[in-house]
Amino acid sequence: MFGKKKQTPQIDKEQLELIENAQRRIRQKKRLYIHFVIFLIGAVFLILANTVLGIGKGVQFFGIDWFVYAIFAWLFFFVYHVFNVFVTHKFMGKNWEKQQLDKLVAKQQQRIEKLKEGFLKEEKLMAQNQAYTEANAEKTIEKAIEETSKKKTSELTIIVAAGENNAIGKDNQLIWHLSDDLKRFKSLTNGHHIIMGRKTFESFPKPLPNRTHIVISRQENYKVPDGVIVVNNLEDAIDAARNDKQPFVIGGGEIYKQAMLLADKIELTRVHHSFEADTFFPKIDSSLWKETSNTFHGKDEDHDYSFSFLTYERR
Ligand SMILES: NC(=O)c1ccc[n+]([C@@H]2O[C@H](COP(=O)([O-])OP(=O)(O)OC[C@H]3O[C@@H](n4cnc5c(N)ncnc54)[C@H](OP(=O)(O)O)[C@@H]3O)[C@@H](O)[C@H]2O)c1
Repeated sequence: MFGKKKQTPQIDKEQLELIENAQRRIRQKKRLYIHFVIFLIGAVFLILANTVLGIGKGVQFFGIDWFVYAIFAWLFFFVYHVFNVFVTHKFMGKNWEKQQLDKLVAKQQQRIEKLKEGFLKEEKLMAQNQAYTEANAEKTIEKAIEETSKKKTSELTIIVAAGENNAIGKDNQLIWHLSDDLKRFKSLTNGHHIIMGRKTFESFPKPLPNRTHIVISRQENYKVPDGVIVVNNLEDAIDAARNDKQPFVIGGGEIYKQAMLLADKIELTRVHHSFEADTFFPKIDSSLWKETSNTFHGKDEDHDYSFSFLTYERR
């Protein structure tokens, strides 16, 4: 309300330059115009000086009067002046053009710098975002592993006896009789769930005592004695044994092959002989499994072959 400052009109530097250049240009054209007038008067004067006043009368070069040369020389000078004003000092002069160009370049550079800054900021933000996402992903994986290991309280164990050539059975029967191996099988599996294929189940005269049998079959109404569980796939079999700390997969060849991907441990009796067979145990990949125990048992009157108890744990 009070003391309102009077606004003084601001002319920026560029406008000022434009005005100055326009004035300079007017001055140049004025000078050219004056030159033209002087040239006309001068030419008339030279003609009169020679023809009327008789100045330099009779002075000729190549049969032409001297004043003609003088007028042409002046005309040449005038044309040079015209050329200078309209062509050499184009619009506002070379200096002005150069200044404008420099300004333009400086402005462009400023813009480029700003863009660069923008890019850098964006890049930084993207890098931060990526780092944040990666850190989060790592945390999620760690959490998942932690949760899985918390959940996974059972140790799925494959138990098998195999010859040197991985033979495990022929005509749905075992190929050997090794009483100490059977004793070991009984003691390890006692009180646990034993998961098996339908064919292995049928190779037993009757269910083994003190174990929960889980039989895998694709058949819809596969009949089994009371207490035996029937499932349609290996995953359901493992699920049915979820309350057991150490469920065992006891064969045969088809089920072993599928369980190798899921098992945590292998209890292998390696019978030191190669057998003719129709069913085989899969090869144990040492990059996935490490041997943690190895006990040799020699051949004797109760055992036709020597063998070793080997334990493998998943790496
Ligand atoms: N040396 C040892 O330690 C040892 C141990 C056990 C057995 N064995 C020997 O191994 C031989 C038997 O093995 P094997 O390979 O012939 O048979 P197996 O593995 O015992 O049983 C195969 C049967 O399991 C069922 N099955 C397999 N995969 C399945 C799936 N993904 N989903 C649903 N059902 C599935 C099918 O039953 P359905 O046909 O009813 O659908 C299949 O015919 C015998 O000679 C036995 O003595 C040796």
